[in-house]
Amino acid sequence: MQQYILQIIYLIGSVTFILGLKYLGNPSTARKGNLIAAFGMGLAIFGTIFLYTDSNGEHLGNLGFIFGALLVGTVVGWLAAKKVQMTAMPEMVSLFNGMGGACAMLISIIEFRHLTSTHTADAMADGVNFFSQIPKGFLFTIIIGMVIGSVSFSGSMIAWGKLSGNVKDKSFGKQQFINIGLLAVILGLAYWDIMGESANTITIFYAILALSLLYGILFVLPIGGADMPVVISLLNSFTGVAAACGGFLYDNKVMLVGGILVGSAGTLLTIVMCNAMNRSLLNVLIGNFGGGSAAASGASAGATGTIKEVTASDAAILMKYAKKVVIVPGYGLAVAQAQHVVHDLELLLESEGVEVKYAIHPVAGRMPGHMNVLLAESNVAYDKLVEMEEINAEFSTTDVVLVVGANDVVNPAAKTDPSSPIYGMPILDVENAHHVIVNKRSMKAGYAGIENELFYKPKTSMLFGDAKKALNELVSEIKALG
Ligand code: TAP
Repeated sequence: MQQYILQIIYLIGSVTFILGLKYLGNPSTARKGNLIAAFGMGLAIFGTIFLYTDSNGEHLGNLGFIFGALLVGTVVGWLAAKKVQMTAMPEMVSLFNGMGGACAMLISIIEFRHLTSTHTADAMADGVNFFSQIPKGFLFTIIIGMVIGSVSFSGSMIAWGKLSGNVKDKSFGKQQFINIGLLAVILGLAYWDIMGESANTITIFYAILALSLLYGILFVLPIGGADMPVVISLLNSFTGVAAACGGFLYDNKVMLVGGILVGSAGTLLTIVMCNAMNRSLLNVLIGNFGGGSAAASGASAGATGTIKEVTASDAAILMKYAKKVVIVPGYGLAVAQAQHVVHDLELLLESEGVEVKYAIHPVAGRMPGHMNVLLAESNVAYDKLVEMEEINAEFSTTDVVLVVGANDVVNPAAKTDPSSPIYGMPILDVENAHHVIVNKRSMKAGYAGIENELFYKPKTSMLFGDAKKALNELVSEIKALG
């Protein structure tokens, strides 16, 4: 009876994951989606702890360890999520993803040890190569889960190190060939082990483990630091597939569904991010785009001329007497934590009768939906956030565009310079507006490491300074105008 209840719990858990994902598709329901899926996960965990019985009818043992680990994990996860800054979110996702990969890796190691400790001695006594007797599918699932989990674990740790600035991009000659060779060796050894053709199956298993961990490191190390969000999304999908392998091993439906959902959602997200940047996944993986030296060398030629600087008081006059203002938030807004003051500016302008909207580029910032999440934090109404395709048609009827800490997403080189690394990336056509005010701290490049012609256009004025400080000044100046 308990087993039937457990299966129903797993079904409910799986449905909550799917519902959760559906709700995560919209900022207004995302929080609810997260809670629903978390509830389903909790149900599945506690259902397993209390209702699962093995073939001998025994319940799970080691409850002290299980609840101890649950307590430690909950406290650490809760505190980390509470403390994390929005700009450090990709870092934290990477760390947590690495933990998922490590879990999948450990499951495989434990199940392999379980297999060997329970059966090898008997088989050896009978003079039989035990591994040739194990169903190949079972061994395949253990080994493939371990390979993917280990790559995801060590790769995510390197990604985390890079995002936190502790690990630098590093590639050495012929690295891509070495990586491909290493992967081929891992797959070859895995095939050998699964076929049970060697007397050293246990040694080979641990060699595969060590090489997979090494592969994860070498795979992520050369990738440009700023490409990490794409890589993390890819590693996230790896973790999902590794967890799904665990679902096969334990014949656990909810683990299987959860793993497949993470695997497919991660893959889709990776594709969507690459498309929004108009780059292939291969280019992200071997292009070193946005990495230190490559970024500098990617500087597009031709973006020269004189720039026009504007003071906060002049910008305030332009905006106060405008009919329509469009704000373009970018990575710098997130760095400066200027989301609250930008909302204050929006409300102030509206109280003066100005129509205000936000133009949202799909890859503005450093993670998917970064600007939506950031602006939601300061209670900006969702209907004020307008997607790129829609807002582009409105710039020609906009009096003032205020670009706050954005750079690449408004760079015309994406349309005009075929030699530019961002050529082909869809951008916000802000130059169609009557006036463009760009707020940033200096003339430094953004993520792609390239110059921006927009800053030199006659319509553009530069408002230099940290976004929070500059927006605060703008608010004060508009108020002072009475
Ligand atoms: P970026 O091109 O990175 O430009 C941000 C600009 O903000 C910089 O030029 C910087 O100039 C300025 N800035 C930094 N701190 C600031 C502060 N405190 N106050 C004011 N300005 C500040 O940003 P974007 O336009 O949002 O474009 C995002 C880029 O990231 C795209 O190239 C995209 O492909 C890439 N990317 C995005 C994602 C996702 S999923 N969103 C993932 C990977 C890569 P100063 O230093 O002169 O201030």
